Parts: sequence; C-alpha cells; structure tokens
Amino acid sequence: MENFVFQNTTKIVFGKGTENHVANEIKGLGKNVLLHYGGGSIKKYGLYDRIVASLKEAGLNFVELGGVQPNPRLSLVYKGIELCRENKIDFILAVGGGSVIDSAKAIAIGVPYQGDVWDFYTGKAQVEEALPIGVVLTIAAAGSESSPGSVITKEEGELKRDCLSDLIRPKFAILNPELTYTLPEEQTLYGAADIMAHLMERYFTQTKDVDFTDRLLEGALKTIIKNLPIVLKDPQNYGARAQIMWAGTVAHGDLLGTGRIGDWASHNIEHELSGIYDVAHGAGLAVIFPAWMKYVYKENIARFAQFAVRVWDVEADFNNLEEVALEGIRRIENFFKSVGLPVTLGELGIPEDKLELMAEKCTERGPVGNFKKLFKEDVLKIYRLAI
Ligand code: NZQ
Ligand code: ZN
Repeated sequence: MENFVFQNTTKIVFGKGTENHVANEIKGLGKNVLLHYGGGSIKKYGLYDRIVASLKEAGLNFVELGGVQPNPRLSLVYKGIELCRENKIDFILAVGGGSVIDSAKAIAIGVPYQGDVWDFYTGKAQVEEALPIGVVLTIAAAGSESSPGSVITKEEGELKRDCLSDLIRPKFAILNPELTYTLPEEQTLYGAADIMAHLMERYFTQTKDVDFTDRLLEGALKTIIKNLPIVLKDPQNYGARAQIMWAGTVAHGDLLGTGRIGDWASHNIEHELSGIYDVAHGAGLAVIFPAWMKYVYKENIARFAQFAVRVWDVEADFNNLEEVALEGIRRIENFFKSVGLPVTLGELGIPEDKLELMAEKCTERGPVGNFKKLFKEDVLKIYRLAI
C-alpha cells in the first residue's frame, strides 16, 4: 500500500427536504452569494424557488448566473468572474450537476486571480486562493460535489482540461435523492456510467496489498449494478436513488483511492470525445472503458480476473485466468448494452476522421494512465477498438 494523506473536508447533508435549509449552511461562509445554475431544469421543477426562498429568509444578498451547459464553457466562467467582482460576491452556490459545480469552481479561483483563469487548467499557475463554494446536487454522476477537481472546456481549440486543488473542494454538499427523480433517463444512465468509471479508475491499479479498498470499490460497483435497473424502471424509487447518489459522492471523494495509484487513462481518453464532439462524459466513458480494458488486461490478468469474479460473479477458474478476465470484460459491456448505454463511437455519432488528432491531443502533455502507460499510438488503438 502507498503512503497517503486523506482529508475530505466537504460537509455532506443528506436526505429529503434538505435543500430547503440551504441558507443555514451558507451562514458564516459568506453574505453576498452568486447563485449559479444550468440550462433551466431547476426552474422547471421548482427547485429554484425553494432555494431563493431560503436565501431571502436568511437575509442573504444574491445575484444569479444561469446557463451553464453540460461540458461547461470557459466563456461563461469569464462572465461569472466579472459578475462576482462587480457585486463583491464572497460565496458561490452551485445548484446542479458536475457542469455547474465545475463552472462555479472555475469562477471561484478566477475572481482573486489577476491573470487568465485558464492558466490553472494548463498548469501555468497553481491555485493559491478561492472563494468558498457550496452545492445543491441534482444528479448523481461526476462526484464534483466533494472532489478537488474542475473540468472546463475552452471553446477555442476544443480543449477540455482539468484543474486540481484542495482549495476548490466545496464547503458543503446538499444531497436530496428526490431531486434526481426528474432526470431524463439518459442522464441517469450517463451518471451511473461515470460513477462506475470513477470506481474502476481506482480499482485497476498495480499497487499491492489493497484488499480493504478493493472490497469497498467492489461493493460500490455492485451497488450501482443492482440499483441502476431499479431506477430505470421506477425513477421515483427513493431507496435506489439514495444508494446511487451516496455511492456517487463517495466514489469520487478520495476515500476509495487511498493507498493505491489509480489509472485515469480512460478519463483522459474520453475528455477528447466530449471536448470535440460535446458528447456527455458518462456516455463517452461507457464506450472507452471496455475498449481500454481489452487493450490493457494482459498487464495484470489476475486483477481483471478478480474483477470478473467478485464484481460480475464469473465462476473462478484458476487454470484459465485469462478466460475469466475476458468474461468480466464481456459482462460489463453487456451490462452497459442491457441498460441502454452506448458502447461504440458509432453510437455516439463520432466519425473516424479525427481519431489521430484526438490521440495526439490526449497525449500532448505526456503518456496517460498508470496501469499501463499509454502513448499516442496506444490511445489511437483504443479509439479504434471502440469503433
Ligand atoms: O442544465 P440543466 O437544465 O440543469 O440540465 C442538466 C444537464 O442538461 C440535466 N439535469 C441535471 N440535474 C437534473 C437535470 N435534469 C432534470 N432533473 C435534474 N434533477 O442533466 C444534464 C447534465 O448535467 P451535467 O451537470 O453536465 O452532468 P454531470 O453531473 O454528469 O457533469 C458532467 C461534467 O462533469 C465533469 C465532466 O467532464 C462533465 O463536464 N466531471 C467533473 C469531475 C470533477 N469535477 O471532479 C469529475 C468527472 O470525472 C467529470 O470529468
Ligand atoms: Zn468522470
């Protein structure tokens, strides 16, 4: 097991009706709030009114900025930074999913910084200061509600890049599973695929003596595999929605990666798909992950066989570990297909003409992945396996 420091400081407030008291969580953190949200779902389903009522009742000043698109854009971040400076904003409340939260995080680091906020996404600058942010989560997916990451797309150059800093971890996250009842079916699916990907990025490691976190990761994966079909059939099933939501936050909240080196190649390979073609992150991951598995499993067949047996209930056969490993890969691909997730680039409407460019962009800062280091040619082969 590797050395580690674990400190996830996000306060989680979980359960029915919790969003109605959001202002209680903001007290002591700020007085002038930027209310940041997406394309309108929070207004359509009445959440906006409840949030505004809580802010007004507590006497908090607020200005609002909606319009965050999935795969959040840098141009809106610039607008948010200006708005915050003009209105002396000292707290940002993100109401939505990963895109809104990531946009809020970018604004939070851009306000006190004199240079271009994109510098944090290219590695040119390190975050030293950030406005505090809080979250009311409306989709179980990205895990940004307690993660130190923010992923932003710069329109010019179609670059989707991330910035990591403990300073942008939200102060609190309000998780009411009922808020996810209104998700379109495909967003529930993409969210589940992203959660599974966050678990598998950590699971596929070459680090030894990680039984404890292996078992936690396997349990979390099995939770999603069991509960996803339930919510697809019965979107208002509180118990199943609640388990997916909590698993989604824990999946990307650092605990499950403690003491082990995660892979993260599939995320990097996917970011080129959503950066250029604006596909949903989770949809891209459902396509890329099985292709990545087929390409790298020989690096550690025993780990893939363990995944097959413990997560997918494949029968153990110590005389034929490779076949067990391959059966695990077939089962995850079949699971994705059975729930309605895409598993090929064609299903995402992605043509083959830019695969080389995507492989080039993906590895421009060096090889990706830790389970197996992948260079441009490797990434290109993975894209080809996903056709
Ligand atoms: O914009 P609105 O109208 O709100 O609609 C959203 C959006 O169209 C809709 N939606 C969300 N909650 C809803 C709802 N519709 C009805 N009812 C609700 N309760 O869902 C759509 C997708 O929202 P989005 O925020 O884009 O989804 P998600 O949470 O999957 O976030 C994806 C983004 O997070 C990044 C991804 O790259 C992508 O840009 N990630 C961020 C990470 C992080 N910061 O730690 C890690 C992840 O690996 C990921 O890369
Ligand atoms: Zn992800």
